[in-house]
Amino acid sequence: MTKTVIALAADHAGFPLKEVLGDELRVLGYEPLDLGTHGLDSVDYPDFGHAAALAVLEGRAALGVICCGTGIGISMAANKHRGIRAALCHDATTARLAREHNDANILALGARIVGTEVARDCLRAFLATPFGGGRHESRVAKIDHVRTKEAVR
Ligand code: RB5
Repeated sequence: MTKTVIALAADHAGFPLKEVLGDELRVLGYEPLDLGTHGLDSVDYPDFGHAAALAVLEGRAALGVICCGTGIGISMAANKHRGIRAALCHDATTARLAREHNDANILALGARIVGTEVARDCLRAFLATPFGGGRHESRVAKIDHVRTKEAVR
C-alpha cells in the first residue's frame, strides 16, 4: 500500500526537531518528504517554508510539517502561498483544532519553544484529526478571500 507523504522542512534551529519528527512519521506509517535543511549550518527559514508550501500545493505531499526556532518565521513564509494554511501549534489541543476548525494543511512548530514530546503529541493530533467541515467551511474559504475586495463586502 502506498504511504501518505508528509512534507518536512526546517531551518537550522528546527533541524534537530525535524529529525525527531521524521522518525515519528515513519513509526506512524507515513513517508516523510525531507526538504531540508540537513544540518546545523545557518540557513534562511523562508526558503524552507516556501519549499514545504510548494510541495503541498503541487500535490507532492498531502500535508506538511515545518520547524524553525519559534515556528513563527517559517509559518509566515508558508502562509504567503494562497491555499496554504500553516498553523503554529504549541500543544495537542491547538494541533487538533487547527485541523478540525481551520483545515490547516501545514503544522508549524517552534523547536526552541516546545519539547520533543510535546511536538510528537502535536504531530500525532494533527495527523489523526480530520477537518470538521460544516460551519467551518465558509470561514476557511474566507481566509483566502481576504486578499481580494470580497473580504469587505
Ligand atoms: C533562527 O535563529 C531563528 O530566527 C529562526 O529559526 C526562527 O525562529 C524565525 O522565526
